[in-house]
Amino acid sequence: MLFALICWPLCGMVLSQEPETMQLLQHRLALEGPQEQRLKAAEPINWVHFPKVGSSFLNAIVHLPGVCPLAVNLTIGEQSLGPCFLQIWTDVMCSQLCDQEKFRCKTDLRMPHPPIDDYWAEKGTFMGFFRDPDQRILSGYHDDMDNLASVNFRDFLHRYDEEPLAQTANCTSEEGAPKIPILEFAESWKGGMTYQLVVEHPTTQTLDPDRLTMTRADAQKAAQRVRDGFAFVGITEEWSLSVCLFHKMFGGSCLQSDFANTRPSAAGKSAHVAYNTSELMGWHDDIDEVVYAAALDVFRTNLVLFNVSHSTCQECYSRGVAHNI
Ligand SMILES: *[C@@H]1O[C@H](CO)[C@@H](O)[C@H](O)[C@H]1NC(C)=O
Ligand SMILES: *[C@@H]1O[C@H](CO)[C@@H](O)[C@H](O)[C@H]1NC(C)=O
Ligand SMILES: *[C@@H]1O[C@H](CO)[C@@H](O)[C@H](O)[C@H]1NC(C)=O
Ligand SMILES: *[C@@H]1O[C@H](CO)[C@@H](O)[C@H](O)[C@H]1NC(C)=O
Repeated sequence: MLFALICWPLCGMVLSQEPETMQLLQHRLALEGPQEQRLKAAEPINWVHFPKVGSSFLNAIVHLPGVCPLAVNLTIGEQSLGPCFLQIWTDVMCSQLCDQEKFRCKTDLRMPHPPIDDYWAEKGTFMGFFRDPDQRILSGYHDDMDNLASVNFRDFLHRYDEEPLAQTANCTSEEGAPKIPILEFAESWKGGMTYQLVVEHPTTQTLDPDRLTMTRADAQKAAQRVRDGFAFVGITEEWSLSVCLFHKMFGGSCLQSDFANTRPSAAGKSAHVAYNTSELMGWHDDIDEVVYAAALDVFRTNLVLFNVSHSTCQECYSRGVAHNI
């Protein structure tokens, strides 16, 4: 009797609320399809940006639904923000335009191309593009505007330590300076993707020629992180397919800005030029090749898993080229 007296108001409430709660939950699950759930699981997104793999991927990320609500009309790039667009984005725009619970703004200007901060805490939130290591290095060597191979590059990097803000206005001051020999440059970039994946407390910048050299064991650890820790893996050589896969996985539509400097042809070919590797005279980055092989593996598995191919991506590609014709 006492039980009934207590239970009458309480149990009645629970019983009458339960179906409603269930309905609400089901309703929410229906609103949140697999793409929304996948995106939520990857937030706050950590963009891992290896030099010379293609920065227009940043546009694809920030234009995902809800990620950077105030950047929906902005295409981040040289055309809109000038040659130092990445510095400007990092320093002022990211934290103002993005929801920081959805996108990690890395505001340390002294560390361009930062390594992963804390793999175990951030596992599952990484997104990045990967590029054939020798092609990445050749692209870095031949980037005349940034002149990453300049003989003064060490000094240039140290200016980031001293006056990081000045670099948002003067990031290409090495343009036109003479370059170091290509093999010396290649050695200093060797294992660079590995470095950004495993060195969590860097004391030197990623592009510093005096940074730690990476071993085969580092590369294997990095490759494992690519397999287990990344919510999205794209491939520079397969830009169009990667963009299409990205939207199949996380939603949002394919936009022209996703393709900024890679304009897909109607057939979906990526327009990245392949450099002639004979210039490297047989030299080869056998550290980052391990990481790249893992990235290709993950990428190809996801193409199958999400039914992504040039023929299933025609609609995505047609948006990508719409304004380029
Ligand atoms: C983006 O552009 C549309 C159309 O011009 C406009 O209605 C909207 O307010 C803009 N959004 C932002 C955040 O600037
Ligand atoms: C840009 O860098 C160059 C090379 O260090 C320097 O001579 C020049 O004064 C700098 N310009 C500005 C505007 O800071
Ligand atoms: C690359 O360059 C070498 C040397 O100039 C040349 O013999 C070779 O045909 C080139 N390969 C391609 C694929 O263009
Ligand atoms: C893959 O996409 C094609 C074209 O949209 C469709 O016909 C096919 O049924 C899809 N296959 C799977 C396994 O979803």
